[in-house]
Amino acid sequence: MDKRQTSARKIMITSALPYASGSLHLGHFVEHSQSDIWARLLRARGHEVKFLCADDAHGTPIMLNAEKQGMTPEQLVDGIREEHWRDLQAFGVSYDHYHSTHTPENQQLVSEIYLKLKKAGHIESKIVEQYFDPEREMFLPDRFVKGTCPKCGTEDQYSDGCEACGSTYDSTEIKNPVSVVSGATPVMKESKHLFVNLKNFESMLKDWVASGSLQEEVTNKLAEWFEAGLQSWDISRDAPYFGFQIPEEDNKYFYVWMDAPVGYLACLKHVCDNNGEDFAPWIDPKTEHEMYHFIGKDILYFHSLFWPAMLHGANMKLPNAVYVHGFLTVNGTKMSKSRGTFIKASTYLEHLNPDYLRYYFAAKLSDGLVDIDLNMDDFRQRVNSDLVGKVVNIASRCAGFIKKKFNSTLSAQLHNQALYDEFISHSEEIAELFENRKYNAAVRQIMALADKANQYIADMAPWVAIKDEDKQLEVHQVCSTGINLFRVLMTWLAPVIPFTASKSAEFLNTDLNDWFAINDPLLNHGINKFKPLISRIEPETLDAIIEQSKQDLEATQAAQTVKTGNGQLIADPISPEINFDAFAQVDLRIARIVDAQHVEKADKLLQLTLDIGDETRNVFAGIKSAYQPEDLIGKHTVMVANLAPRKMRFGMSEGMVLAAGPGGKDLFILEPHEGAQPGMRVK
Ligand code: 2FM
Ligand code: ZN
Repeated sequence: MDKRQTSARKIMITSALPYASGSLHLGHFVEHSQSDIWARLLRARGHEVKFLCADDAHGTPIMLNAEKQGMTPEQLVDGIREEHWRDLQAFGVSYDHYHSTHTPENQQLVSEIYLKLKKAGHIESKIVEQYFDPEREMFLPDRFVKGTCPKCGTEDQYSDGCEACGSTYDSTEIKNPVSVVSGATPVMKESKHLFVNLKNFESMLKDWVASGSLQEEVTNKLAEWFEAGLQSWDISRDAPYFGFQIPEEDNKYFYVWMDAPVGYLACLKHVCDNNGEDFAPWIDPKTEHEMYHFIGKDILYFHSLFWPAMLHGANMKLPNAVYVHGFLTVNGTKMSKSRGTFIKASTYLEHLNPDYLRYYFAAKLSDGLVDIDLNMDDFRQRVNSDLVGKVVNIASRCAGFIKKKFNSTLSAQLHNQALYDEFISHSEEIAELFENRKYNAAVRQIMALADKANQYIADMAPWVAIKDEDKQLEVHQVCSTGINLFRVLMTWLAPVIPFTASKSAEFLNTDLNDWFAINDPLLNHGINKFKPLISRIEPETLDAIIEQSKQDLEATQAAQTVKTGNGQLIADPISPEINFDAFAQVDLRIARIVDAQHVEKADKLLQLTLDIGDETRNVFAGIKSAYQPEDLIGKHTVMVANLAPRKMRFGMSEGMVLAAGPGGKDLFILEPHEGAQPGMRVK
């Protein structure tokens, strides 16, 4: 029976906006995977989905970071946005658009919302006393002041809490305060700040919570906050600040958390404008349009109190729900740079298929706020046993017979229609589990059915029956049943493992993005050549990811970072320069490229054999976009000869070749003049 819903729902789905500071890491991808699976599921169910995200571009840390790097904040955030969007796409995250909060749409919307709040009497002003850096002439957020802990006397502590004794205190209590920005002693200075009076929204917020669409833990947390009393929210910052100026004020800026959630709507508006669609119904409280936000538990306060208050105060639709997830731990503990478990998305992607991690997260994600653990051994075993050993195995056991014996065409009838019907009878329940974000339960069911399909094929043993002339039809129908069961499983898994699903769709010669298409089996249907869909994860690959992540840390240590109260990273005021002694340790040598080869399955790498006089080195260099291997052979270049060898998926890399340029085709290896002989040191 076709359970296709007659009227498609209009659903806006967002993930929290990553700060435009630093690279995305696997922690981010718990959320991007969770929301993407949901968006893909709802699309496959026939709904109109607007799946949106953006970079969160504003704030003091980004302003200072840009300055440190000698660029404008606009240049900095543009570059980071590009990197983030590249990683997200490579992970298969299917945002309809990836925006930025530093855009005209966002400025217009945040100003509009603010003016409506002001007109309705929800904005108040107060004088606030705050640390001020007299050298830089700027107010300092708490995390930009360090000093001695007033409780235990430990030096070099942030002004809002001590890492040594764990006490928290008012920033004015810290002893010997120092500005992290300039090193100057900050002074206290007064300034007018603007506040949203949150108390005005208390009863509306309580009704919203009571509507029952929030998770139980979230409802409980909100009850605690109501109990403690709602505080007015400071939404203004003084210049210099990277953000939007507040209308009708003199040189005041919106605090980054004021325009960040408005960024959800700005992205939507951008999409609507581009598609010639109407934006207004999406924010109109009277429409049936739906709005959902996926977030981590650390930013619940902003999304469950401030954001609904802003929307309501501006006569806009409230979110239907805010879906909160826990944090990611790796091997049972917090991600750690020194242990190599703080893994950048790009590092993971250099070694492994994104579907593996998406699958693993799905197998662990529930609708609760519990943290999820990426245990490396469990990850490998789970992917190998479930995806490779169970699901893909079904297709690989049946495909060969269909191709060789039956002209690559499925039979006109299934051998076991009852088994197929039994599978389909689970389809709605599985959809419901996904829609209720019980991904772990959905995946469990799918794998139990994959076991069943494998058992069926094992019982029918087509590899034995094929030898019997009388059983040719049976083998055809059994293998066609197997392929059809594979199609059902892969349709259910398509939101989770889109890359594998798309390769499977090519093999099956059918679309796997329609949840309801599987209600009818593929009969008399031509299929394509079966190519291996995925391969097993080897322990060495995971070791290589950890090893590379440790080296990523070394690379970033030169520019030390501090985390601000917003969770943003800024460059430490301590100089990122290296001294001459450190530079002198780098052993730069002339190398002759004696061989250059393509590296199988690597998008960016070439394998180079380098002669440096007394020895040859094997180096993997990310210059494939700019050079054909044959053009490199015989050329001289410069290499770092004393870089610690790095284990990569393809082998050991024993050094690094120096290249310059913006990237892509415009990447040039350094070619010293003739006369430079292999092995010579570069001075
Ligand atoms: O915590 C964070 O990473 C924030 N950049 C999230 C912002 S979400 C939204 F409100 F924009
Ligand atoms: Zn202390």
